[in-house]
Amino acid sequence: MQTIENVTAWEVLDGRGDPTVQVTVTTSDGARGTALVPSGRSTGRHEAQEVRDGDASWHRGRGVRNHLEAVAPQLRQALCGQPLDLRTVDQRLIALDGTPNKSRLGANVTAGVSLAVAKTAAAAAGEPLYRFLNPYARRLPVPQMNLINGGRHAFNETPVQEFIILPVGANRFREALEWTMRTYHVLSRLVEERYGRHALNTGDEGGLTPDVRRVDEGLDLLREAVLKAGIDKGTRYGLDMAATHLYRPDDNRYMLDQAYARDELFSLYQELIATHRVISIEDPVQEDDLEGLALLTGKLQCQFVGDDLFVTNPERVNAAVRMGAGNALLWKFNQIGTISEAWDAAQLAKSHGYEIVVSERSGDTEDPAIADLAVALEASQIKTGSPVRGERTAKYNRLLNIEYELGENACYAGERLQELYG
Ligand code: PGA
Ligand code: ZN
Repeated sequence: MQTIENVTAWEVLDGRGDPTVQVTVTTSDGARGTALVPSGRSTGRHEAQEVRDGDASWHRGRGVRNHLEAVAPQLRQALCGQPLDLRTVDQRLIALDGTPNKSRLGANVTAGVSLAVAKTAAAAAGEPLYRFLNPYARRLPVPQMNLINGGRHAFNETPVQEFIILPVGANRFREALEWTMRTYHVLSRLVEERYGRHALNTGDEGGLTPDVRRVDEGLDLLREAVLKAGIDKGTRYGLDMAATHLYRPDDNRYMLDQAYARDELFSLYQELIATHRVISIEDPVQEDDLEGLALLTGKLQCQFVGDDLFVTNPERVNAAVRMGAGNALLWKFNQIGTISEAWDAAQLAKSHGYEIVVSERSGDTEDPAIADLAVALEASQIKTGSPVRGERTAKYNRLLNIEYELGENACYAGERLQELYG
């Protein structure tokens, strides 16, 4: 096995123009891998912590250059000369950090090093990342295509964070992508007519930004576009409620077009599942209400995805599994801060029948790695925004390339989702 020769960490920018971490790892035999770290805005309380400089004179306090300068010698000391093995490196990072939530080194640093090591190891083996991590991987995920942005991802009056279509009936990934872009263009015309030109401005994840105050209003709008695009039969719908950010603890209510008590919210979900072909709801309750999530999962036939609720953390996934809370894991490697911990969270979830939805962050980068990771994890879905911004197309184009590369061996996860949720 090759050994790590050097680790460098620099400040670069993410897709929102905020500073983020870039890490490059090299080996004694000349292999090299570079990773960029994404950053969330609608973050969960239980996520591992980013570290930023807080120096107001540099990028509004969001810089990372001083921190990187401070930790780089420690990283080099811990890793240089060590074998190029992802698990060993991740263990060393966890030990070097020494906190329960990566708050000393920063999950933005550990995630960057971990991913860069994975990429370097793949390069050293002469394999693409997905195949290096899983030689049997051949399934392309269904894109959860987030066409309308609200909540913390857009400057509009839309409380729901994401209105999503799932092209489950496509035969191949490339067809799913064509279907969704066709719908996006039809939807743009509808949105312009009804909500005005300003609603064509896109949110953080590339979706349109009409002021959609009611949940059924957004779903009706999507359905109309899907019908006009001619892909009605093969399309299902999803929501990311990001309910933590709708929740008002003082009176225990969720703020949508009106205040909803939890049981009223559950009735709303029941209705939307029955009438609007909704098959997936992410963070349907606030991040500490695993009990509510378990109630909902037992009651309604739908994919319930834990994002802020699970934070890609094996311990939280374990707690959820024991309670029967949720049936899908939103997988964001920087929520936990190393690839191997995130990998373990996914394997644990899968072994209990949970679906995996690999996800970008709202402040993402041109690094396409989550495309490879989704294929390697055999995730049935990926959520990486609308394909109209570079940091989003980076992932879609990588998936197209993987599909071309796999040729006749490639398959598409749409059928599986249809079997599960109709
Ligand atoms: P983020 O949110 O802003 O934390 O990346 C994305 C999501 O809620 O899925
Ligand atoms: Zn979410």
